[in-house]
Amino acid sequence: MEASFISEAGSNIENPILEQGRIAREMESQGSRLIKINIGDPGMYFQLPKNIAWAYKKAIDEGHTSYLEEQGLKDLRDAVSTRYEDLYGISFSLDNVVVTQGVSEALSFMNQAMIDKGDSAVIFKPFFTEYLTYLKLSNGMGIFPSLDERNGWDIDPDGLEMALKYHKGKKPKYMLITNPNNPTGTALSEKGIRAAIEAAKDNDMYIVSDEVYDEMLHDNATFTSVGKLAKGIPHMLLNGASKNYMATGLRIGFAIFPEEDRKSASIKKAFLGMAGARLSANTPSQYAMLEGLRNREKHQQFLAGKLPQISRQSELAYKLINETGFFNAVKPDSAFYLFARINFDMLGIKDDKEFVELLLREQNVQLTRGSGFGMPGFIRIVTLPSEAVLTDAINRIKRFCEAHQR
Ligand SMILES: Cc1ncc(COP(=O)(O)O)c(C=O)c1O
Repeated sequence: MEASFISEAGSNIENPILEQGRIAREMESQGSRLIKINIGDPGMYFQLPKNIAWAYKKAIDEGHTSYLEEQGLKDLRDAVSTRYEDLYGISFSLDNVVVTQGVSEALSFMNQAMIDKGDSAVIFKPFFTEYLTYLKLSNGMGIFPSLDERNGWDIDPDGLEMALKYHKGKKPKYMLITNPNNPTGTALSEKGIRAAIEAAKDNDMYIVSDEVYDEMLHDNATFTSVGKLAKGIPHMLLNGASKNYMATGLRIGFAIFPEEDRKSASIKKAFLGMAGARLSANTPSQYAMLEGLRNREKHQQFLAGKLPQISRQSELAYKLINETGFFNAVKPDSAFYLFARINFDMLGIKDDKEFVELLLREQNVQLTRGSGFGMPGFIRIVTLPSEAVLTDAINRIKRFCEAHQR
């Protein structure tokens, strides 16, 4: 189709996590077996908790297959409110929750609600790929202060200040914080979050905090919700079923507006308008997630059975990749990712894009380039596969680097 037929925004959409799919499919059709460590989908590795699966089936058997109210099932919104109260002592009414089709839809709504052509937003890099996609779809522009690699990928208040100071153009509308982070697999410190909140307040930015991995912490990691530190400051929290419940396919997300300030109220109103435009989030999934949230004991048992394994895998991957000598990675303490800096001065390879493409073709390992997360010169490894698979993958990565050593 000629370019002019497709909108400018529509013709530029890409997902770096999936971009090698064509090559991968071609290789597989010719009989190659690939190690795919590019997609952070726990649903591919772990079965949905049985009580959630049962609730999904029951919802269908009981005829819950029509649209639900656009804001989402009332009991589910109530359960979201109870979760935040129980876990973090954050109180909000069920009226301040909007159920979305995954956090992804909330990200789309959020940009449509706030961003007009030429508006800008602060997004810390490295960032989850979709943040940029939806910002660009609204013709917005990003300001990308870097997280501090030397400080465990925490927020760097000076870097943030500089990025804001040197930004030319309209005042940024929102600041997006991810905690724990994809792709770094690290949680932010309370100090870092406080600095970000202060900067947002001083610059009149709406704070959006994507906390979709908030229960996926390894041994000693701690998590602090923005909701706890930003009392009285306009903000929105995002969460959902995909990571903590390993239920990516349910496509359930929550947009939460804990404050009742004017900005939050008007963004919520826009969300409700957009939710109405798409009628309803998936109905059986909402009943399934209701069971997931109400049955906290089962959920905790489920996580207690999985997290130590994920933590061991992340730690192993971290140790092995650093031992190759070709990378430097910060130790992950949450989620299921490892983000490693490539030591390019040792390699005859141009950039991370070339690195991942050649690695796939030569060693059958598919992973994602750092530039896809706004941070060229890195690779992201998903640490959900078993220790044996991760060891095999990293051995291949090492062989690949040795073959391209200069
Ligand atoms: C930080 C972050 N936010 C949101 C999402 C998307 O979540 P959902 O499946 O709820 O759309 C992901 C998925 O990887 C993510 O890493």
